Amino acid sequence: MSGGWLDGYAVLITGGGAGLGRAVTERFLAEGASVTVFGRDKDQLDETVAAAPDPSRIHAVTGDVRDSERLHAAVAETVERFGKLDTLVANAGVWDYQRRLTRLGAEQLDTAFDEIFSINVKGYLLAAEAAWRELVKTRGSIVMTLSNASFYVNGGGPLYTASKHACLGLMRELAYELAPKVRVNGVACGGMNTDLRGPESLALGDRSISASFAKKGPDSAPPLIPLHDSSTDPRDFTGPYVLLAARDQSGPITGHAISVDGGIGVRGFAHAAGGDDL
Ligand SMILES: NC(=O)c1ccc[n+]([C@@H]2O[C@H](COP(=O)([O-])OP(=O)(O)OC[C@H]3O[C@@H](n4cnc5c(N)ncnc54)[C@H](O)[C@@H]3O)[C@@H](O)[C@H]2O)c1
Repeated sequence: MSGGWLDGYAVLITGGGAGLGRAVTERFLAEGASVTVFGRDKDQLDETVAAAPDPSRIHAVTGDVRDSERLHAAVAETVERFGKLDTLVANAGVWDYQRRLTRLGAEQLDTAFDEIFSINVKGYLLAAEAAWRELVKTRGSIVMTLSNASFYVNGGGPLYTASKHACLGLMRELAYELAPKVRVNGVACGGMNTDLRGPESLALGDRSISASFAKKGPDSAPPLIPLHDSSTDPRDFTGPYVLLAARDQSGPITGHAISVDGGIGVRGFAHAAGGDDL
């Protein structure tokens, strides 16, 4: 493949075996990149590798994003296989299924906080730690999957919303610390029909967000966004990742989040308060 925006790039994508991460993997391959997919579900990774059109441009590493050693192994194997690392897409995450403070006991909050923050926030930080030295060599970049919950309330409960706000702060801080050698940006996605799971500590590890879309119809966006007839197919969210990874297209952009959320930021009031029925 030649002529793609990511021709010759070497990329590492956490959570690259399912949902949005897999869609970004497929899009990056189509744009000419070589991709290492990293995740904790080996079957998903094997399936992603088997479906790739060119086996020489994909590699899988199994591991948990809370495990720094596995992340370092993923960076090392990427450099070994593809010669370098141009882009880290920090993406693996879990949702809290909008469990509100008033529905959670202290013990649940304690354990679920640790699980959600260690995957969603520490997982991004450890991936950045594993990758930055190689990214400095290539003057590469990090693209983080953020969320509407990085900016607005009620896209999760307090645990998810706080974790995605933390990821926004992490993105900005790293953009400062790694400049001018490495750019760091985010893509703040809205609701998508993926396999997004919840925390095991709340017994939500087997629940998939796809079940909510199945109830409403496979392609139904949340009704409260201005583009309420827009797609919820993760493939339609991948363009900004290509843009932000491609130095020719976004060389002067760092510390910025592109919102891909159907226009939540321009909508009017829906409900004044969430606790009227308490
Ligand atoms: N689906 C949505 O509506 C939505 C909206 C906004 C943002 N996001 C964000 O998108 C990102 C990707 O989620 P998705 O919706 O594609 O879900 P998904 O479950 O389809 O994909 C997530 C991938 O990450 C992997 N993963 C999860 N925890 C891991 C861990 N501890 N270690 C290694 N791998 C792990 C999963 O196995 C899976 O392959 C997340 O950061 C999520 O917060 C999703």
